[in-house]
Amino acid sequence: MAPANIESILHEQRLFQPAPAFAARARIKSMRELQALQQQAAQDHEKFWADRAREQISWHKPFTKILDSSKAPHYRWFDDGLLNVSYNCLDRNLKDKAHKTAIIFEGEQGDVRRVTYAELHREVCRFANALKANGIKKGDRVVIYMPMVPEMVIAMQACARIGAIHSVVFGGFSAQSLQDRIEDAGAKMLITADGGTRGGKIIELKLAADQALAKGCSTIESVIVLKRSGQTIPMQNGRDVWWDDVVKNVSDQCEPVWVESEHPLFLLYTSGSTGKPKGVQHSSAGYLLGTIVTMQWVFDIHDDDIFWCTADVGWVTGHSYVTYGPLAVGATMVMYEGAPTIPDGGRFWDICQRHKITIFYTAPTAIRGLMKLGDDIPAKYDLSKLRLLGTVGEPINPEAWMWYHTHIGHERCPITDTWWQTETGAHLIAPIPGAVATKPGSCTLPLPGIAADVVDEEGNSITAPNQGGYLVIKKPWPFMLRTIWGDEQRYLDTYWKKFNNKYYVAGDTAHKDEDGYFWIMGRADDVLKVSGHRLGTMEIESALVAHPRVAEAAVVGKPDEVKGEAVFAYVVLRGARPAGGVDEALTKELRAWVTEQIGPIARPDDIRYADNLPKTRSGKIMRRLLRSIAAGEAITQDTSTLENEAILLQLRGKA
Ligand code: WTA
Repeated sequence: MAPANIESILHEQRLFQPAPAFAARARIKSMRELQALQQQAAQDHEKFWADRAREQISWHKPFTKILDSSKAPHYRWFDDGLLNVSYNCLDRNLKDKAHKTAIIFEGEQGDVRRVTYAELHREVCRFANALKANGIKKGDRVVIYMPMVPEMVIAMQACARIGAIHSVVFGGFSAQSLQDRIEDAGAKMLITADGGTRGGKIIELKLAADQALAKGCSTIESVIVLKRSGQTIPMQNGRDVWWDDVVKNVSDQCEPVWVESEHPLFLLYTSGSTGKPKGVQHSSAGYLLGTIVTMQWVFDIHDDDIFWCTADVGWVTGHSYVTYGPLAVGATMVMYEGAPTIPDGGRFWDICQRHKITIFYTAPTAIRGLMKLGDDIPAKYDLSKLRLLGTVGEPINPEAWMWYHTHIGHERCPITDTWWQTETGAHLIAPIPGAVATKPGSCTLPLPGIAADVVDEEGNSITAPNQGGYLVIKKPWPFMLRTIWGDEQRYLDTYWKKFNNKYYVAGDTAHKDEDGYFWIMGRADDVLKVSGHRLGTMEIESALVAHPRVAEAAVVGKPDEVKGEAVFAYVVLRGARPAGGVDEALTKELRAWVTEQIGPIARPDDIRYADNLPKTRSGKIMRRLLRSIAAGEAITQDTSTLENEAILLQLRGKA
């Protein structure tokens, strides 16, 4: 898509200054303070980050080298330092915060459990010893497929403690997706649970795990199973062991394994432009630093805060703002396993009231969904402890922003709209709440030390306001991804090739306004955001064509009031198109098929059958045309290249 065609359509004029009462006790209190940091970073980018790394990380052996760019765009930060991420999240808090609550866990049924830093430390040590006893060593990959319970955090921290590389697979992914990820990572161990709960239903994690392992995953040697749902599940002798059993006779002390700064902390698979999800690889020191500075700058975390990020740990937001960031700064956080509408649409606000949440971080899709249920629901709850709100994952429309501001923040709480990605590790563009005035729908300004810009097709900075272009980051930052696991070429091609390895290409389009504020416009590639979940259209297309009756498929996003985007599929069948384009049984079957191949989050809302798909002369599917049709818009594209214009009627469901 040429930037000339990227029109910016949002013109939001409202401006919300930081409330003086908030700014007065904020870590960064004014634009002047923020600009001082920005200047430090601009003067000496490497020194700025090195200072932060010395200040914020407890090193086992301090680093002497800051940034190694000799193999750019493979960057190495703080290369010769030694540290342990779990030590930084747990041990260093034991001196002053041993009895402070680290995690307040709430289950959907209302069960509440509190875990202190001392208890969490012991549990992590025990589980780390259990991993060792089961043959896991530094560098081994461990796949985690679990519900949102404290043991998920314990498992991840235990991996970090012994230098094992975790790869969490979201519990909503199917057996097939789990298998693909286990095989790509070459994982030695799988950690799962008998089942999770959501929306009153049991998520059959062990069943899916068994299916994945039955078909392949030859590298897996053992499976640790947590009892959570309590249902009876088959355990395979010699392979499957219960969590409770492996932690029974091991010590609750475990010396951390000191790893190099660049040692991979985790892989997290995410979707891109091709059919196969990619394993984004993060480092130890740089990544940890990103989660810490953003907890401080963007979430303005204080010792007495109760922090709640509603994201599932299966996504990057849960990695950075559940498992690592809050613990690394010694905060108290809430974890909730369940749906926002159980028993009713007040559940989030009820949790905020009961646990006295001060900082609340969620996705626009959740805000829109809860907004639809009516203003009277949040009005029933005491939300007076809230002092800061955040959003992440997709652009937030000004209407939802204003509702959040009015009905949840009571016009008192700043809203921090955080732009970042699985690849960036932590927030890169976001308002620092005590300093930056906000505009509904804008993620405002880049953080100190983050060289974000919007450029045209040639890579030139776009200086004219409100002109769309590609969002790029012009200097390396410590918490950037390091590579794609097992696929160097894809790392280079996806993020660096477009501008000759000079800039990191985010894959989003954006524009800057008169004040230099960033407005994210959407993806420049074939990635969808469905309820904030990142899905590749090609992934869904390959799932569809794997069905014996499907010859060809094209998937696009259709605007959806709550989900942001919904999955819309155009399908060409082997053999005849159903009469009138309708075959309800087949549509049902294909939707179930995609659920089985990827997971329920990828299930198409609409499926439309056509004799052919519209293609350009060079044979490329005309996705823009398909998007317009899905959105029910008038067609403005040139359709003269279509072999058969009657196809348009079929695609529009009119024939
Ligand atoms: C989108 C989620 C607008 C964007 C942390 C990005 C956003 C993709 C925002 C990454 C935001 C994320 N405003 N769009 N505040 N935050 N995005 O990897 O398109 O699941 O490229 O990481 O989400 O999605 P991912």
